[in-house]
Amino acid sequence: MSKPLSTPGAERTPGIGRERQTEIYVRGISAQAPRVPVDFAALEARAREAMSPEAFAYVAGGAGMERTMVANRQGFEKWAIVPRMLRDVSVRDTSVEIFGTRYPSPYMLAPIGVLEMAHPEADLAVARAARRESVPMIFSNQASVPMEECARELGETPRFFQLYWSVSNELVKSLVARAEKAGCEAIVVTLDTTLLGWRTRDLDLAYLPFLRGKGIAQYTSDPVFRRLLKEDELDQEVGPERKVNLATIRVLMELAGNYPDGFFKSLTSGEALAAVRKFTGIYSRPSLTWEDLSFLRECTDLPIVLKGITAVEDARLAKEHGMDGIVVSNHGGRQVDGALSSIEALPAIAEAVGEDLTIFFDSGIRTGADVFKALALGADAVLLGRPYVYGLAAGGEEGVVEVLRNFKADFDLTMGLAGCRSVAEVKASRLHAR
Ligand code: FNR
Repeated sequence: MSKPLSTPGAERTPGIGRERQTEIYVRGISAQAPRVPVDFAALEARAREAMSPEAFAYVAGGAGMERTMVANRQGFEKWAIVPRMLRDVSVRDTSVEIFGTRYPSPYMLAPIGVLEMAHPEADLAVARAARRESVPMIFSNQASVPMEECARELGETPRFFQLYWSVSNELVKSLVARAEKAGCEAIVVTLDTTLLGWRTRDLDLAYLPFLRGKGIAQYTSDPVFRRLLKEDELDQEVGPERKVNLATIRVLMELAGNYPDGFFKSLTSGEALAAVRKFTGIYSRPSLTWEDLSFLRECTDLPIVLKGITAVEDARLAKEHGMDGIVVSNHGGRQVDGALSSIEALPAIAEAVGEDLTIFFDSGIRTGADVFKALALGADAVLLGRPYVYGLAAGGEEGVVEVLRNFKADFDLTMGLAGCRSVAEVKASRLHAR
């Protein structure tokens, strides 16, 4: 039996598409343009103007020659929607059921780290927008704000926690326990980032946010991490031949400013620098294997979702290892250059495990038509990534709200115009392979 979502907007939303169109066009009569651009390319351009070159590169960039990012988009072009006519689509139901909860729309907010690079209110602004639009949020392990603070902003809105499996199982356990306490309804383990991809734009700017104390709030707020930090010696070397000059001092000050104990204390104690050192040594475990998943299973009764699956064999292994779901994803093309696009990977995976596992999808979703195609090819829900980060950069909380409303409206209209009254009717038979 499905548990209805008790937040506003959980009821059927027959008119979200038309409501949103009307709102925009009516405002246009008094010469008001939408708060942030509706078109993705224009939204990205607006965000770029609002962000530092380093921040934009970090969000927009991918691995190597960014061929996976290109493939993620091109993959959608291999499918065409074939609309059906005269099917009474006056009332439409865009809700989906995930792990026994009914959500008003098939969207979730993908875990995105270091949101402070897009906007100073970072994850808090996103949580407020998620609450206003009843869209579940997946807290990133690399968030700029501790999960407990975001949970408060979310109220009753559902949330998941995304885990990067640390070298320390004790830290893994602590993060999962905190997620349970913060009301998370599932744990999403990201498997595709045990090593950081070769990200050309970031390398050329020689900029990695974590080394400046950004995006490590889940760690610095964690009791196990803080204890491990204390156990370490404070005077280790960070890396070879680090030249101290004005730029280094500026970074140290930035770093201390990002540390929760306050600027002066952390600068003088050296704890902020030690936290960054500790983070770089502890955040991921490349030696992880399928056998390790049993540890996580023992840590929690929450559903476990594996993120970063594109091989059918891995989807089958996820099922064999008792996982509850997968995210078909290539991390938005940020990890392996020249990898299979997510949308190309989806149909075979859905065929292999769709009956047994909940399938989430991300990497390349830019319009309602993309969402339609992903659902038709077997996804149960989709994760929005870069589009909401650009909304955040361009307009803070309001920008994220606008992006979410646009996505919901676009999907609602696409679904209706394709002749579908509900997500259950969004099937592969509505698609034509080009
Ligand atoms: C990400 N992604 C990501 N994934 C994750 O599991 N944990 C994380 O902390 C992050 N951080 C992150 C930062 C930035 C700036 C981006 C763009 C992406 C990946 C994210 O969850 C999702 O898989 C992709 O964003 C999907 O690709 P598109 O649709 O954004 O291109």
